Amino acid sequence: MGKALIIGAGGVASVVVHKCVQNPEVFEEICIASRTKSKCDALKQKLDGRKTKIQTAQVDANKTEEVIALIDEFKPDIVINVALPYQDLTIMDACLATKTHYLDTANYEPPDIPKFEYKWQWAYKERYEQAGITAVLGCGFDPGVTGVFTAYAQKHHFDEIHYIDILDANAGDHGYPFATNFNPEINIREVTAKGSYWENGKWIETEPLEIKRTYNFPEIGEKDIYLLHHEEIESLAKNIKGVKRIRFWMTFSQQYLTHLRVLQNVGMTSIVPIEFEGKLIQPLQFLKAVLPDPATLGPRTKGKTNIGCIFQGVKDGKPKTYYLYNVCDHQECYREVGSQAISYTTGVPAMIGAMMVITGKWRKPGVFNVEEFDPDPFMDALNKYGLPWKESFSPELVD
Ligand SMILES: NC(=O)c1ccc[n+]([C@@H]2O[C@H](COP(=O)([O-])OP(=O)(O)OC[C@H]3O[C@@H](n4cnc5c(N)ncnc54)[C@H](OP(=O)(O)O)[C@@H]3O)[C@@H](O)[C@H]2O)c1
Repeated sequence: MGKALIIGAGGVASVVVHKCVQNPEVFEEICIASRTKSKCDALKQKLDGRKTKIQTAQVDANKTEEVIALIDEFKPDIVINVALPYQDLTIMDACLATKTHYLDTANYEPPDIPKFEYKWQWAYKERYEQAGITAVLGCGFDPGVTGVFTAYAQKHHFDEIHYIDILDANAGDHGYPFATNFNPEINIREVTAKGSYWENGKWIETEPLEIKRTYNFPEIGEKDIYLLHHEEIESLAKNIKGVKRIRFWMTFSQQYLTHLRVLQNVGMTSIVPIEFEGKLIQPLQFLKAVLPDPATLGPRTKGKTNIGCIFQGVKDGKPKTYYLYNVCDHQECYREVGSQAISYTTGVPAMIGAMMVITGKWRKPGVFNVEEFDPDPFMDALNKYGLPWKESFSPELVD
């Protein structure tokens, strides 16, 4: 039925590739392209011989003309961008030039400013409309499934949603004193930034990790959760009419936070270049180089994740509460695709989003966040492709 160009060959890309290959009726051909071609070739070698035809290519996605040349050669229906957020705009430019659909899992962030916002990508809306192509933004788990959960809650359970708490818990243990579950540079930039939430039409800013609660998660138990700024708050505030407050919470262990504090205190998380032995280096990029590669955590990580949304609002004039979540087991993911649950919970929705576009279920000209599409076929696909969801109508609330 279709062809996908997958850009990136890291932890998330590996899951996308495995999942596309599990779905050969939709993904007849894929091309895995990244900066380091050997990583693409290693993935191809693992999965070659299946029904989906796989090819690989070297590309520097910071260079629009290289991405255009690759698209012209491979002629995909969609580009799945699972490289880094820094490449979002160059890849979107290439899709525009070649009239090819686009999907990513993280919004654009300028390399020199640790600030992620949708404004740069939303600015492409009219040009995508005119070109008649679809861009699906933020189609991992969070952002991604959290937006689909919200659209589903809005469609089936509420007349108006007033409060959304997004809860991301990882009870996995990889046995290292300190490691991040996805790209360390992106992860640490996110965690060390100021927190914020949306309330009554405006952003309320907090110091990094200033607000802490505990929450008793289904299937993984009680955890400390910290309020973070997160990108889906921005799009949900725009797209969910009547919403009064949106907050995002993530679990961190004391051990993780202690290491992070020390690294921050000694300047290792800084993105300001310093001179070292006659060369300019960015401390955070150097730190990334010495930390465990997230793609290698799979065999070591035990335990589960629980990511979901608690909604409060009204239905038929009565107050209503609804909790939608997924529990994912690190070791089951590893057995299935050779990756831990963080890459799995991101890669599966990226494949499903691309499938929605290729099959025409999520295809309209313009630039969209996932909550702007019909959630039903995506929710069915989550159950089918490894991320079954659960619901509760009387969950514990976050105060
Ligand atoms: N929405 C969600 O739920 C969610 C959750 C987790 C992660 N994410 C996002 O998923 C994306 C991938 O994360 P990951 O953990 O897979 O990261 P990763 O393991 O670091 O992989 C990134 C890949 O992108 C490649 N790359 C970097 N710069 C490139 C360039 N200029 N041209 C071509 N390829 C380039 C890297 O190539 P090299 O091998 O040469 O370095 C690597 O293969 C990130 O954007 C992350 O923010 C989203």
